[in-house]
Amino acid sequence: METTVFENPTIEQIERAAKVIRDGGLVVFPTETVFGLGANALDADAAKKIYAAKGRPSDNPLIIHLAKADDAEKYAETNDLYYALANRFMPGPLTVILPAKDIIPRTVTGGLDTVAVRVPIHKTANALIRAAGVPIAAPSANISGKPSPTRTSHVICDMYGRADIILGGEACDVGVESTIITLCAEHPTLLRPGHVTLDELREVCPDSVLSQAVLGKYEGQVLSPGMAYKHYAPKAAVTIVESDERKFYDYIPKGTETGILCFDDDELLRTLPNVKIYGASDDSSAQAKRLFECLREFDLEENITHIYARKPSADGVGLAVLNRLLRAAGFNVVTL
Ligand code: TXA
Ligand code: MG
Repeated sequence: METTVFENPTIEQIERAAKVIRDGGLVVFPTETVFGLGANALDADAAKKIYAAKGRPSDNPLIIHLAKADDAEKYAETNDLYYALANRFMPGPLTVILPAKDIIPRTVTGGLDTVAVRVPIHKTANALIRAAGVPIAAPSANISGKPSPTRTSHVICDMYGRADIILGGEACDVGVESTIITLCAEHPTLLRPGHVTLDELREVCPDSVLSQAVLGKYEGQVLSPGMAYKHYAPKAAVTIVESDERKFYDYIPKGTETGILCFDDDELLRTLPNVKIYGASDDSSAQAKRLFECLREFDLEENITHIYARKPSADGVGLAVLNRLLRAAGFNVVTL
């Protein structure tokens, strides 16, 4: 397939991309979290193309992206809690799962009777959805199993030849995917942590709970199919090391096969080869912004076979960082 790239899209180029969406094609676009691979969410055949382009299992549902929160009315059964969440967090990096209306093809929902809705705040994303005039189904624009893309260069690497248009932009602000909360369980349940934190959600829905799958390999019923798949994996094996910097330094094998993911303030580790710095130890937002980019940078280095990562704090946005890193590591954590 021929792919047209607009690095810094003009409004005319966004309108051209919107037409591609209406005509059943695929458009990569930036959001505040990560880049998305979009298609018309009302067109089952267009949605199928997304699964093919990503190599994504067809039972893993897609998020539909809307221009404004009350558009959800047309596609889902909304309620007061949805609007309470929408008033506080939309537009922004929050996805809410609601019962789906029939207008949404079951190809989009992975066969489920629920649908995930999100209203991005990113200007290009919002302009694209408005111009398209239809909801846009979009997963992260990575090849399935790779870290989500946070830069134009990442989507060109993964999606060139697989999408009709790539809309570029600045590096994504948040760097990890949206927080997902389902309103279709017994209690509002946080399925995927992100920039909107559990504490913030509890200010609106005090009885919100955290899905056990967020921090562990959950054996029971998986509420979000995406959490059942191995995710965010770089080529090298990843071990998360829980310790202070000195013990970490002594523990890791020194050599060209070793990659190190550490904090800004790690004076000792910074002196070693193959080091990526993903933010200060007390700055979870900076870590979130850099994490996937660091994992992709490791992928470009042929000889690194094992990555050792400093364990991030699980507070606030840190929960999202830890959740993604645990998946990249296949839950491999060593405590010293
Ligand atoms: O920030 C984001 O959410 C990005 C940008 C592009 O908006 N999108 C994104 O989509 O991360 P994706 O497909 O990579 O992740 C969506 C997750 C998957 O784990 C999927 O299983 C879950 O949302 N999901 C979607 N619909 C669902 C539903 N009806 N019930 C449960 N989980 C659902
Ligand atoms: Mg994804």
